[in-house]
Amino acid sequence: MDTQAAEARIKELYTLIERHNILYYRDDAPEVSDAVYDELFRELQLLEERFPTLARPESPTRRIGAQPRESFSQIRHRIPMLSLENTLTEKEIVEFNDRIKRYLSLTDDQELVYFCEPKMDGLAVELVYEEGVFSEGSTRGDGFIGEDVSANVRTIKPLPLRLTIDPPPHRVEVRGEVYLALKDFQQLNAEREEAGEQPFANPRNAAAGSLRQLDSRVTAKRPLSLFCYGPGEIDGYEFVSQQNFLDTIAQWGLPVNQLSRKVSGVGGVLAYYREMATMRESLDYEIDGVVVKVDSFALQRELGEKSRSPRWAIAFKFPPRQATTLVEDIVPQVGRTGVITPVAHLKPVEVSGVIVSRATLHNWEELAKKDIRIGDTVLIERAGDVIPAVVKAFSEKRDGSERTLPMPEYCPECGSKVTKLPGEVAIRCLELSCPAQIREAISHFASRNAMDIEGLGDKYGEELVKLNLVTTVADLYTLNRDDFMRFERMGDKLAGNLLNAIENSKKRELSRFIFALGIRNVGEHTAKILAGAFGSIENLAKATEAELLSLREIGPQVAQNIIEYFANPRNREILQSMIHAGVQPISEEKRLGGKFAGMNFVFTGTLTQFTRDEAKRIVENEGGHATGSVSRKTDFVVAGTEAGSKLTKARELGVPVISETEFLELLGVCRT
Ligand code: IVH
Repeated sequence: MDTQAAEARIKELYTLIERHNILYYRDDAPEVSDAVYDELFRELQLLEERFPTLARPESPTRRIGAQPRESFSQIRHRIPMLSLENTLTEKEIVEFNDRIKRYLSLTDDQELVYFCEPKMDGLAVELVYEEGVFSEGSTRGDGFIGEDVSANVRTIKPLPLRLTIDPPPHRVEVRGEVYLALKDFQQLNAEREEAGEQPFANPRNAAAGSLRQLDSRVTAKRPLSLFCYGPGEIDGYEFVSQQNFLDTIAQWGLPVNQLSRKVSGVGGVLAYYREMATMRESLDYEIDGVVVKVDSFALQRELGEKSRSPRWAIAFKFPPRQATTLVEDIVPQVGRTGVITPVAHLKPVEVSGVIVSRATLHNWEELAKKDIRIGDTVLIERAGDVIPAVVKAFSEKRDGSERTLPMPEYCPECGSKVTKLPGEVAIRCLELSCPAQIREAISHFASRNAMDIEGLGDKYGEELVKLNLVTTVADLYTLNRDDFMRFERMGDKLAGNLLNAIENSKKRELSRFIFALGIRNVGEHTAKILAGAFGSIENLAKATEAELLSLREIGPQVAQNIIEYFANPRNREILQSMIHAGVQPISEEKRLGGKFAGMNFVFTGTLTQFTRDEAKRIVENEGGHATGSVSRKTDFVVAGTEAGSKLTKARELGVPVISETEFLELLGVCRT
């Protein structure tokens, strides 16, 4: 191949890989298998090795990170990145609206059109595209000068390296928020705890810490996400409104939040705020309020800005998810991997609608640093974790009766000596037969997103371990009615239900089974990738490191953990007994023949007949995809009440919109 042909093919590969990236990361609707994607990727890598002069900074191969740097250089923002005025009250929103109307000399009955967006809780970045090619990414910094984090930004998967518009504008600057989805944050923190490292306090810190890494290869391993929300300097394209801006850049391939929408007047703003305050609890990323913007760019210009913030926008924040309560006890808790964590038992308190009675203190170093004592009055916060965290103690409230909890020397569950591995903040119980670890392993195995053994829960799981009826997850499948009848207050019916639930779990999807095994760093998402690639547990167990590494998103650490898991004779034995007992995970490939095979669904609005998770599961069980955004590829939009911009988009594109009932009917019809 000559240089010219290589150049043409490289260009073609950029386009193909970028397109598959957008389908995979933004639309959740891949068109090709990972293997096909990897082949394209490898072809590009090989071409770039053979023709090094053709390897360009915007190449998708650069997404895996570059050499570490000493420090970040600075970038001056051509247009300052302002901040927003904040408010927490409806009254101030009414005042904001009055102020703007006065400024624009509008009459009382003239309603302003606002554009409302979720306020993402991450960190702001500016992205620059020159001639359609991503060239620069920077942090906000002091608003005028930020840090050049281009190499790191380039590793963010939903970021297109090229805009899908031809010909592109000369220069496009967009601003957006880099964030970490809750699931990814929880997994990252779980991994850090497992690895004995200090977990991040909240998703925002995790995102900021990941983006400001001097070694972009570290950033590349963190599943950062991005939503774009505003223009910087644009040369070569005119936008008329915020709605027009977001719709357009979405078409260019940039990720935008689909929950954003146009509303009318202050009434519309307040309704949107309330809707988001409710929805906040079910979103898979953190939002800390809504941003209200005057939609028209002409009016924005007319309103102008004050020194630090624009007059045409305001952040309407949610109250913080914090509360003050009493630490009744601090208890060392042993996790699935033996890490011992101090957990604060609290006087129950409500934190934005949820009753909280436990909070994590992460590790003993943190406990000592924050100096939290039994009997302390503390501030707690729900910040993206399943269990809230203790922020600080009010030391001025102490009366001298408070007690500190020393770091345990022995495992509180099995009594073996605890170990602090070099370089770790965590302490661990290394005893594999420690009942706490068995209990946690079983609780994870039976949990909803794993084998979903209903009713087994923590309570019976704990009993089973206590009575020595199970010592591994495989033992669950040898239990009989008499075993359960040994429990206090166990009836024939309940025992039957539990046995049924265990029996039903024998035929779960392969990805759930893989996740349930509790292999280190193999979360739900990774399990899905593995299930898709290997098709059976036997194949996965035989997988070589090279095979694992050839998969997108499987890094060396995860590959190593998988190999180690299956190399361990004890784990092999557990697997063998489960298979022997009739556990037969169903390969997702079989679902190619499902009722919704190859179909794309988008769920929007408030669902009343099933949760979003359930809907997703139904669709995926039937071989379809449930995606987050409406496109021409969407087969059905299922709209609950108060459906917003996705509904509008569906109508624009002519995608059929059905109700929840119609969806269930469709499932029924397809079933027959
Ligand atoms: S617009 C001049 N929209 O909030 C207007 N900001 O306090 C600039 N943020 O630094 C901001 N989500 O990091 C805007 N949908 C959204 C946002 C958003 C989060 C952050 C952003 C900004 C801060 C302002």
